[in-house]
Amino acid sequence: MAEHGDVTPISLLVDAARKDSFETYRAEMEQSMLFTSKRRNRVYAIQQAIARDPGDGLYVEFGVAAGHGCRLFGKFLAPHGRHMHGFDSFVGLEEDWTGYHTG
Ligand SMILES: C[S@@+](CC[C@H](N)C(=O)[O-])C[C@H]1O[C@@H](n2cnc3c(N)ncnc32)[C@H](O)[C@@H]1O
Repeated sequence: MAEHGDVTPISLLVDAARKDSFETYRAEMEQSMLFTSKRRNRVYAIQQAIARDPGDGLYVEFGVAAGHGCRLFGKFLAPHGRHMHGFDSFVGLEEDWTGYHTG
């Protein structure tokens, strides 16, 4: 169902893509940690990584986009003397997603 406003052909298409993704990953999701926000997910992930840090690896993110995750991870790593390395082509996705064109 559309989040805001009227039901339109576009909102139905986006909703169908979300439902398809949900059905694809449903079994795995039922066994997984679930987060209500991207930030909470990122904080949990970096805390888990730091807790298991062997001390000789690198922290890298491939496809940083605007860099929100990369910067947040960097803030958590700094007190441990560790650094985040981010990469991106900055040309966007290589394939269309529903409602989002390549680039
Ligand atoms: C969905 S966004 C990433 C979102 C980000 N990781 C986050 O958590 O908010 C995908 C990013 O991957 C980058 N990308 C896609 N294919 C790439 C490639 N072959 N090499 C480098 N970056 C790539 C795009 O430019 C885009 O910024």
